Amino acid sequence: MYQCYFAGTGSYLPEKRMTNAELEEIVDTSDEWIRQRTGISERRVAAADQSTSDLATEASRAAISIAELTPQDIEAVILGTITPDTMTPACAVYVQHALGIDNAAAFDLSAACTGFVYGTAVGTSFVQTGLYRNVLVIGAESLSRVIDYQDRGTCILFGDGAGAAVLSRAEEGSPSKIIDSYLRSDGGGASLIEIPAGGSSKPASHETIEARQHFLTMNGKEVFKFATKSMIELIETALKRNNFSPDDLSLIIPHQVNSRIIDAALKRIDIPGERFFLNLDRYGNTSAASVPIALDEAVRGGRLSRGDLVLFVAFGAGLTWGYNLLRW
Ligand code: UT7
Repeated sequence: MYQCYFAGTGSYLPEKRMTNAELEEIVDTSDEWIRQRTGISERRVAAADQSTSDLATEASRAAISIAELTPQDIEAVILGTITPDTMTPACAVYVQHALGIDNAAAFDLSAACTGFVYGTAVGTSFVQTGLYRNVLVIGAESLSRVIDYQDRGTCILFGDGAGAAVLSRAEEGSPSKIIDSYLRSDGGGASLIEIPAGGSSKPASHETIEARQHFLTMNGKEVFKFATKSMIELIETALKRNNFSPDDLSLIIPHQVNSRIIDAALKRIDIPGERFFLNLDRYGNTSAASVPIALDEAVRGGRLSRGDLVLFVAFGAGLTWGYNLLRW
C-alpha cells in the first residue's frame, strides 16, 4: 500500500453575501434568533450565471496550483454534491473539461454533507492501492437553487461555496498521511432531509412544483439530535480505533452547521473548544463544501503544521456520517 496525503487545498466562495438582516425581509425570523440558535451571521449566494461546476472549478484550480501540479497530473475527479449542474451527466465532468484535465476519471458522489469525507475515503483508496497518483476531491454546492425561501426552518441555515483538495502519493518516510476513514449510513432516516420530487420516484410535474417539492425539506429537530449523536460517536470512534487520546488531536474540522451541535459535543468530550475549526458564522451550512472550505481556511490561516493530527467529521442527508483521520 502507498501512503496518501493532502498535497494542496483550495476554496471558492461566491461574492454575494446574504445577511441575517436580509432574511428578516423575506421570512419571519430575526438576526438575534439565527445567531443564538445557529451561530450564523451571513452566507454566500452564487450569482445567477454561476452553477456548482463554476464554483468547483475555481476551488480546484487553486488546489491544483498549491499542490504544484498541472491539470494533466490529475487522474480522477471526485465531486461530492447534492446540487449538480444537471441531473446527468455528472457535475464532475464539467469541472474536468473546464480545467482541461484530459486524462482522468470524473464522477459525482452523492453523500450530502458527508460528501467530501466520503470522497476523501474513496480518493485515498485510489492512491493507496496505486491505481492513481493524484486525485482531485471536491465538495461544491449551490444550495440557494434548492432552498425554499418561504421556509424559515431551512433558508436561514444554508449557503453556497466550494472546497477542493488534491490527494497524492506521499514520499516514503513523509509524516503526512491519511490514517483512517469511517463511513456510515442509515436510509431509515432518508425522509429527514430530502428533495422530494424531481427524481424517478416523483418526476417533475405541475403538481410537484405547486407543492414546492423541488426544494430541500428538513426535520430540523430530529436532524439536530442525529447530528449531535454522530459528532460524538465519530470523535470517540476515531480516537478508539486508532489508539489516540483527545490530547493528541491538533484540530477537528467539523461539518459547519450549527454551533450548538459543537457545544453539545464539548459537554461530552474532553477537548478544548478552540481545537474545533469554525467558520459557519460567515458561510452557514454549505453541505459537501463545508469541510473542504474550512480545511482550506485552516491551512491558509496557519492553523496546521505538517504532522499535526487532524480529524474531519461530517453528517447529513441519507442519513450519512463519517470521518477522515490524518496526519497533515
Ligand atoms: O447539514 C445537514 C445537517 N443539518 C443539521 O444538522 C441541521 C440541524 N438542525 C438545526 O440546526 C436546528 O434544528 C435548526 C436551526 C434548523 C432549528 O433550530 P431549533 O432550535 O431546533 O428550532 P426548532 O425547530 O425547535 O423551533 C423552535 C422555535 C419554534 O417556535 P415555537 O414552536 O417554539 O413557537 C419555531 O417555529 O423556533 C421557531 N423557529 C424560528 N424562529 C425564528 C424555527 N425557525 C425559526 C427561524 N426564526 N428561522
